[in-house]
Amino acid sequence: MVLPFKHEPFTDFNDDRNRKEFEAALELVKGDLGKEYPLVINGEKIFTDDKLISVSPSNKEQVVGKVSKATKEHVDQAFESAIEAFKTWKKWTPKERADVLYRAAGMIRRRKHEFSAWLVYDAGKPWNQADGDTAEGIDFLEYYARQMIELGQGKKLVDHEAEHNDYFYQPMGPGVTIPPWNFAFAIVAGTVAAPIVAGNPVLLKPSENTPVIAYKLVEVLEEAGLPKGVLNFVPGDPAEIGDYLVDHKETHFINFTGSRATGTRIIERAAKVQEGQQFLKRVVAEMGGKDTIIVDRDADLDLAADAIVNSAFGFSGQKCSACSRAVIHKDVYDEVLEKSIELTKELTVGNPSEENFYMGAVVNQKQFEKIKDYIEIGKKEGELVYGGEADDSKGFFISPTIFKDLDPKARIMQEEIFGPVVGFTKAEDFDELLEIANNTEYGLTGAVISNNREHLNRARHEFHVGNLYFNRGCTAAIVGYQPFGGFKMSGTDSKAGGPDYLQHFLEAKVVSETF
Ligand code: NAD
Ligand code: ALA
Repeated sequence: MVLPFKHEPFTDFNDDRNRKEFEAALELVKGDLGKEYPLVINGEKIFTDDKLISVSPSNKEQVVGKVSKATKEHVDQAFESAIEAFKTWKKWTPKERADVLYRAAGMIRRRKHEFSAWLVYDAGKPWNQADGDTAEGIDFLEYYARQMIELGQGKKLVDHEAEHNDYFYQPMGPGVTIPPWNFAFAIVAGTVAAPIVAGNPVLLKPSENTPVIAYKLVEVLEEAGLPKGVLNFVPGDPAEIGDYLVDHKETHFINFTGSRATGTRIIERAAKVQEGQQFLKRVVAEMGGKDTIIVDRDADLDLAADAIVNSAFGFSGQKCSACSRAVIHKDVYDEVLEKSIELTKELTVGNPSEENFYMGAVVNQKQFEKIKDYIEIGKKEGELVYGGEADDSKGFFISPTIFKDLDPKARIMQEEIFGPVVGFTKAEDFDELLEIANNTEYGLTGAVISNNREHLNRARHEFHVGNLYFNRGCTAAIVGYQPFGGFKMSGTDSKAGGPDYLQHFLEAKVVSETF
């Protein structure tokens, strides 16, 4: 009997024993840094000469791993193997497929700190962020396994006299998973596990920034009994194989999470029917955010400052859900800003493979330069009141940064920065708080800090985001508790970790019989 879904608990790093165990995992993984990793096609490990080199964001000298790069020919081979694997994988019962996910979840749970340690090196995650990422990956496996078993029973329909109607789900065929680097374990695990447990083989092209931790997932799923060809690992240069994977005539679905620019490109290309293609491609595209916390006049201002600071600076603001806009009622603006600055002063920044710092480095040179540019733009658009320092001598470090008195239409209030930068702006009343909250092209997360029930009720309907939080921060959705996905240019609102997610990778069929 399978127990009901419950989310994987987070590790308490105030506990000495947990801290020591985590340090031991960091040591263990350190001994494995710099190794070479293959592609995996039809269960075969293929090492190429050309490699993606993953370096630690907090220490540019440290090579995390050298990962083989797939070419278009490898992609073709991976599709051949996926087509072959589909013939049998689709016949496994939902329970048999779910069992592979349960086993993988158990194996990862046993080696949890080791997976998190890889995230510390590969993605630059601070300990609690890495721990949350691993826990979320386990949750996705456990949750989608149960969902598939439930969906395997089909749905009830109405029967006429002498007629029986049957509604059930079947897999679609091979598809492609293209995840980002910022939840380098959780999103990879979730966006791979869902189509697979639904019966579809997957070609996984991980982010070029974090291919090593993605390989670790492939290894575990294989060990858990996933048959060859069901998951093919094809890391590579997106400029070389990105369009090719999307355009391929055998691609039934593209399960994408990443930036708005890449997502809209994928949607556009997937709409074109290729020669020999006999179905329409489905696209799940979860994209960027420009997320707002609004603070009402009647609100707990300590809670407001805490929500803003942790949502803005957790994992250096490198979350689609991160708070990058704090929109505050004019009567409490100065106080919330002051409290936020005081809290930010307490945050520690440093290399998380050495110590349990609050913030590490940002992911790479390109992001470092981009965030620095936005800080310069911010200095012209508003007033820098905290932070603004950047140092890439060892790793890509940027201090938590706060701007005040911004025009809601300023660039740093409209464009996704994806770094530790938050802008404050003032509003006259609740109408204007909501108006500013809604005035971006994104619609992913948001939060309202208010003690006014009428205002909370209004926000429920008028704050146009896929994930809205009351009296807490706007990050840290939990699988099964807060299904996740955004409106507007934030994506297709697939609600990852929710009850409707698996249907994106299934076809519903109706069979009617008269007798
Ligand atoms: P990105 O768009 O640069 O890359 C995402 C993935 O797409 C990577 O694997 C990349 O290699 C691949 N890619 C790039 N060009 C491609 C192409 N032409 N064809 C196919 N694949 C291609 O995004 P990123 O920097 O990895 O991730 C950060 C972005 O992801 C942010 O915008 C963030 O908001 C967003 N994000 C959204 C969610 C969500 O659930 N909405 C979650 C996490 C991250
Ligand atoms: N799902 C992640 C969060 O809610 C992005 O922060």
